Amino acid sequence: MPTLNRLIPTVTKISPSTTINNSITFKALISQCKAQVQSALNRWLPAEDCKPETLHRAMRYSALSGGKYVRPLLVYTTGKALGVNAAALNGPACAIELIHSYSLVHDDLPAMDDDDLRRGKLTCHKAFDEATAVLVGDALQSLAFHILAVDSSIQVHAELRIKMIVTLAHASGSLGMAGGQAIDLEADGKGTDFTLASLQYMHSQKTGALIRASVRLGALSAPDCDEALLTRLDQYAADIGLAFQIRDDILDIEASTDVLGKNQGADIARNKPTYPALLGMDGAKQKAQQLHESALENLATLGSEADSLRWISEYIVQRPN
Ligand code: IPE
Ligand code: IPE
Ligand code: MG
Ligand code: MG
Ligand code: MG
Repeated sequence: MPTLNRLIPTVTKISPSTTINNSITFKALISQCKAQVQSALNRWLPAEDCKPETLHRAMRYSALSGGKYVRPLLVYTTGKALGVNAAALNGPACAIELIHSYSLVHDDLPAMDDDDLRRGKLTCHKAFDEATAVLVGDALQSLAFHILAVDSSIQVHAELRIKMIVTLAHASGSLGMAGGQAIDLEADGKGTDFTLASLQYMHSQKTGALIRASVRLGALSAPDCDEALLTRLDQYAADIGLAFQIRDDILDIEASTDVLGKNQGADIARNKPTYPALLGMDGAKQKAQQLHESALENLATLGSEADSLRWISEYIVQRPN
């Protein structure tokens, strides 16, 4: 059995100043992707003075409010690793971020997690009102599918474009994010009265599904991505998707409200089942680390073109917010 170190050809330890393929630091890569998706979103979102103005202001407030843009980062890095040019990835990057932003607007509503702080600012329903926040979610979701359907910079033929639309629909719906959120609501107040298998399923749906879709959208943007590679990338994405929500659970306890940009202790306040609740803090961190290692193993047959994806996996389990 080869050791993990021998399976992994290139960098596994990162810091923001680590350089990928002798060209760009991780920090610079994140800033570049963020600037690129923000500028594309800015072009797709209707202007604030376009009727109905309040809805459009609230949509822009929520979608351009400065998250970490991890899902677009995954679209760009997966696509670029497979030789796709950046312009062709803007549409899928925008689409996934719009679904994610909509999920957060609804997640914060009083009927769901009832939070008043998001990305260091008032949540959408606090800055505007609840009805507007519901409509913001609806409209961001529609815009995501509109972009995938019409964006002329997406360079694949119609069959692959339809696969992209199906990927996003499946990941967003009742068998993906929305389904995971439904399980999360039912689990409110259950604390440790929840099996690890149910927790893993809930996290993989509510958060993992969109992370997997991000990687798949990047891969489907490459006309020549074969099924075997898609499967390996999907396994990588499933690992980092679960790790992403485990880290979110850990940060809810360990990071300050200032650093998080959302209220610390929100899960404990609602007695939510989380990885730290079920496994303890050390157990949760170990589980995240195991998932990171498994993610890297899934990339083992790829060369340095996949280094950014290796970095992202490490970033996900180390991130401060
Ligand atoms: C928060 O997602 C909600 C989860 C799915 C855990 P992010 O941590 O990606 O939020 P932003 O977009 O950076 O604000
Ligand atoms: C949210 O999970 C997952 C989705 C929005 C789909 P959380 O409820 O843990 O996210 P935060 O902590 O509010 O960002
Ligand atoms: Mg929630
Ligand atoms: Mg929440
Ligand atoms: Mg959370």
